[in-house]
Amino acid sequence: MTARSTVLTDIGTLVTNDPGLGEGALGIRRNAALVFDGGSVVWVGDSADAPSADIGHSLDGRAVLPGFVESHAHLVFAGERAEEFAARMAGESYAAGGIRTTIEATRKASDTELLANARRLMDESLRAGSTTVECKTGYGQSVADESRSAAVAAAVTEEVTLLAAHVTPPEYAGRTDDYVRMVVEEMIPACAGQAKWVDVFCEHGAFDGDQARAVLRAGMAHGLVPRLHGNQLREGPGVALAVELGAASVDHVTYVSASDIDLLAQSSTVATLLPGAEFCTRSRYADGRALLDAGVTVALGADCNPGTSYTTSMPFCIALAVREMGITPDEAVYAATAGGAKALRRSDIGTLGLGARADAIALAAPSHLHLAYRPGVPLVENVWRAGFHVSGMVHA
Ligand code: NIG
Ligand code: FE
Repeated sequence: MTARSTVLTDIGTLVTNDPGLGEGALGIRRNAALVFDGGSVVWVGDSADAPSADIGHSLDGRAVLPGFVESHAHLVFAGERAEEFAARMAGESYAAGGIRTTIEATRKASDTELLANARRLMDESLRAGSTTVECKTGYGQSVADESRSAAVAAAVTEEVTLLAAHVTPPEYAGRTDDYVRMVVEEMIPACAGQAKWVDVFCEHGAFDGDQARAVLRAGMAHGLVPRLHGNQLREGPGVALAVELGAASVDHVTYVSASDIDLLAQSSTVATLLPGAEFCTRSRYADGRALLDAGVTVALGADCNPGTSYTTSMPFCIALAVREMGITPDEAVYAATAGGAKALRRSDIGTLGLGARADAIALAAPSHLHLAYRPGVPLVENVWRAGFHVSGMVHA
């Protein structure tokens, strides 16, 4: 089923992310109109010149943007860790081992429970404006539990990531190399067909550079494209490994050296900033300004997971990135849309250029700047995905 044609008129500020269609990198047009047909963008121009379509909505001066592209989410899990969060806010520090609490709960949950939770979070994301959400496994950490986690992820998104090595599960305690061998020899061959990406948590307390390389190379040998969690808790080999393997993105990048930044700037690997994790672990924020000034491609993700960032809100992360990472509202909006698309190596989303998938959001505000200017306010009023109106009450 494809969507009927839709024309959105009287758009106060239209962010296209296509410099050929408007001003600056965001390709901004004022008093604009947009037409979707067959699930794609087919016309962009001045509102006064808008053609007619099956459905018409006047935005009455509101802003329209590409839907957010959330390129980093962990939505397949059971349980929650509010007590762990409260303990951190009382002074404890975050350690990778907290992941095991969720592994235990996830292994006990039924497929139906896991799918219901993932659907709930996808729905929450969509209502907050994320029209594409990547989804990782990683709370199974056995062949059977990673395989069913990948099946759940595939039921909610086309961007499935096999986070084969998130943390050593309890039955491999003290035997991380044995776990990595099992991942390489059994888990990846069994699960690769269910995913597009392979991921690893390359961090002190999780997997070192050699272990992470072995996991990512095994994934690549089975047709998966690498991406990784790196440099979240301290400096380490994650960024260099991502660049060495041509990873699509390296995520967190909080503790990076000058040479890590240089390596990223010379590469096609995207640096994905996850300010929700820094907020929820009360950690130092990544230096987005330094990365952008060096010429690194930056994406912004919400990193929804029950341990370090239990939020699906890209608007919240945009506000945090602007306030805490030294980046401008324009840069943050670009990173949350086009940047996320680059991190997923997609050119059909994160833009409202001609031919793009008709994924758009309308704000209860006159411009995209309000996403950072009005933190915590639910400004995403309407959402269209592939041309279908999927959330909100449009203004006729
Ligand atoms: O992206 N860093 C590793 N993975 C998650 C945390 C997972 C957890 O604590 O459950 C993250 O922050
Ligand atoms: Fe993560």
